[in-house]
Amino acid sequence: MSLNNCYNFDDFRKLAKKKLPAPIFHYIDGGADDETTLRRNTDSFLNCDLVPNILASVGQPDLSTTVLGTKIDMPLFLSPTAMQRLYHHEGDKASARAAEKFGTFYSMSTMATSSIEQISNVSSGPKLFQLYIHKDQSLTDNLIDRCKSSGFKALCLTVDTVVAGNRERDHRWGFTTPPKLTLKSLLSFATHPKWAINYLLNEKFELANVSHFTKKGSSIAKGVMEYINEQYDPAMSWKDAEYCVKRWGGPFALKGVMSVEDAKRAVDIGASAIMLSNHGGRQLDGSRAPFDQLPKIAEAVGGKIEIIIDGGIRRGTHVLKALSMGATACSFGKGFLFALGAGGQAGVEKILKIMKDEITRDMILLGKKKISDLNHTNIAYR
Ligand code: LAC
Repeated sequence: MSLNNCYNFDDFRKLAKKKLPAPIFHYIDGGADDETTLRRNTDSFLNCDLVPNILASVGQPDLSTTVLGTKIDMPLFLSPTAMQRLYHHEGDKASARAAEKFGTFYSMSTMATSSIEQISNVSSGPKLFQLYIHKDQSLTDNLIDRCKSSGFKALCLTVDTVVAGNRERDHRWGFTTPPKLTLKSLLSFATHPKWAINYLLNEKFELANVSHFTKKGSSIAKGVMEYINEQYDPAMSWKDAEYCVKRWGGPFALKGVMSVEDAKRAVDIGASAIMLSNHGGRQLDGSRAPFDQLPKIAEAVGGKIEIIIDGGIRRGTHVLKALSMGATACSFGKGFLFALGAGGQAGVEKILKIMKDEITRDMILLGKKKISDLNHTNIAYR
């Protein structure tokens, strides 16, 4: 199996499973507790069907949309995800370059393995930074200010990860940042020599944005759950969010909003967008799928704030269902990470091309010329 035989998410996932040591594959693939929310995220798109309009003379549809103050060429972008250097030795650089080619957002995690400055040097495409609030307040200021001077277009604050979700696969496989050789994981690293050689011979692994504040997670191996519980501020509040809105002063999103009340409050604090998300099913298991919650949220705050949705997006039709129900744009994490693991930048470009082709074809089949033509009349619930 190679990149040439990858036609959809499942193909990339299978190839990444072959290429990556098991602890790393399972870190991407897994969710919290029983993984019910992880499964529900994708299944939620099955609750409704698309209703096409015919003879609409679509020709070539326009997929562009404006989100967080930036016009992007397609309504899907890369979610912020941690430690991409583990999935491919070019890590965030590969994803940022691929996103730039498709004229869409690359998003950088606070826990990225390239720094804000490195990525702004390799890509002039639209870039979004995802903030985690660490206990050390000066780190928050430092990150926001560096994003400003490095030309990042937008900032999002993740609000659903004040403590770590219970990722049992990480416990089972002994996943740590950076990877530690344990008896359990040794065999898996040894049986993936190509990955191991690339890991060892390329740029050193570090959490490049925070390594000047803490060695933990960079030169001191930590379980990710342990890192989150030690480093992040569990007392984060609306005050902190307001502080970030002010200090940043540009397009700002709250990532992890799920309730109508919180969506309204996000409008009140002057956020430009909410990211309707349950962190890919990795945090509160049993929590609602973003797509299930979208109609209520869109009814309450649609038109007042942009709604970005992630969680379980695997197909162009998922994107079109979300946009029809009131989302401004969608993003995906696992959706591109397996492609990164399977083939680096070429892999991410391939999944973006597949998704773009699917969205284009399905817009034509739906009879829609532009993204703003999509609305709830394209959807029928079962
Ligand atoms: C995760 C965090 C680090 O989901 O975003 O693993």
